[in-house]
Amino acid sequence: MRDRIKELKQNEDAIILAHYYVDGEIQKIADYVGDSFYLAQVAKKLNNRTIVIAGVYFMGESVKILNPDKTVRMVDIKADCPMAHMVTVEKIKEMREKYEDLAVVCYINSTAEIKSHCDICVTSSNAVNIVSQLKEKNIFFVPDQNLGAYVARFVKEKNIILNDGYCPVHNKIRANELEDLKIKYKKAKVLCHPECREEVLALSDYIGSTKGIIQEVGKYKDENEFIIVTEEGISSELFSKYPTKKFYYLNDFVCDDMKMPTLEKLESTLKNKENEIFVDEDIAKKALVALDRMLELGVK
Ligand code: 13P
Ligand code: SF4
Repeated sequence: MRDRIKELKQNEDAIILAHYYVDGEIQKIADYVGDSFYLAQVAKKLNNRTIVIAGVYFMGESVKILNPDKTVRMVDIKADCPMAHMVTVEKIKEMREKYEDLAVVCYINSTAEIKSHCDICVTSSNAVNIVSQLKEKNIFFVPDQNLGAYVARFVKEKNIILNDGYCPVHNKIRANELEDLKIKYKKAKVLCHPECREEVLALSDYIGSTKGIIQEVGKYKDENEFIIVTEEGISSELFSKYPTKKFYYLNDFVCDDMKMPTLEKLESTLKNKENEIFVDEDIAKKALVALDRMLELGVK
């Protein structure tokens, strides 16, 4: 199947982008694997005619917005991030009426329509950096309350207004579960994703995006054990990059949507030219402003 996928990819001049949470077999066959920010950066630079996304819907939408003239396909078009729908346009409009000096900052895990109503996008790897560069005093951070609260800890000069969305997969983890693992593996360093609750983040040695967590492991020379507090798909990259280190995960830390792309579906997407993403032109134009601003400020 891997050979067939490679051949189909060449025939369609397609390139495959995968997130660290998807199945390890897909990560192996992908041309680029990364966190949300990296994938958006890569997507902007590609020359291929077709881009295939192994991830969830908002990722495909973002890539299509950044590449309106290319064909963008999802390995599974039904794979969606529930958090992307946890804020409404009405709520954003309400906040804009309430505060004069306001920037609406949206986590990239949001729909294209929400992005089109926001001033700038962020990801977990650049949110603190970007929010601290904004000139507005009031920030409505959507949809993730946990990432928003994490940003607020570092950008004290701003009034950060939180929305009530959350990632169901990260938010369900409670401090006592992590405490139990810390008791079991006393020497292990704890590396955690900022979509987790504040009580969980408080128990961590490092907080960062998936890419941040992977890079952080490389900085430890003497430590060999790590408790990884994010979705278990990250284990493929950690295992291949650091084969001699030991990684421990919390039980049932799985995003079902990220597990929807499979090799079979990838083959079928390429063979049958299916699962193409389309974004309304007007929405795409406005959302592009927010995404482009992120790409610009995110590297400053
Ligand atoms: P990052 O890859 O940016 O850390 O995001 C995690 C995530 O939840 C993507 O859905
Ligand atoms: Fe959405 Fe959470 Fe799954 Fe990421 S891990 S896609 S934020 S539900």
